[in-house]
Amino acid sequence: MKNKLNLNRKYTKFALACFFITGFTVYASGAKELLEKYEKDAGKKFNASQGKEFFEKRNPETEKSCIDCHNRDIKKEGEQKVLFSLFSIDVPALSVSANKEAFKSSKKAAKEFDNYCEEVWQRVCTAEEKGNMLLYFMEN
Ligand code: HEC
Repeated sequence: MKNKLNLNRKYTKFALACFFITGFTVYASGAKELLEKYEKDAGKKFNASQGKEFFEKRNPETEKSCIDCHNRDIKKEGEQKVLFSLFSIDVPALSVSANKEAFKSSKKAAKEFDNYCEEVWQRVCTAEEKGNMLLYFMEN
């Protein structure tokens, strides 16, 4: 009886380890996949500190920036004011280590990158700008 119990514990530990390992690769893969795509498009390696700078920069023309809604501390949720600031909705943390839902789908993330670049910069961002930001989100 005692032996059987020990064996079960071993299996449980093994199963848990497998679960964490596959869980980790799945959540990190969307971001990695997207980074590889941008790298191919831009033809160069990225720079996370330039990404941070661009993410926090305000466009003087639209007077908007990414951190109007996202938190400057990318490990924390931001908030977006809606309906004349009467309400606010949570905006996801973009740090891959802090938010395991972030960049789960590379397709969706690529679309949001383009939508919000359009909103702040009135154009889609270049592969280099997006790659720099994504690297910053992945390393922090
Ligand atoms: C007006 C508010 C607002 C601004 C400004 C904004 N975002 Fe966002 N962003 C959001 C919201 C809300 C979501 C979540 C959308 C959803 O999940 O449907 C989001 C999601 C994203 C995502 C997807 C993350 C994922 O895990 O899929 C990326 C990437 C992103 N934003 C980047 C940016 C960048 C870069 C800028 C600046 C150029 C920016 N955002 C500016 C509100 C904003």
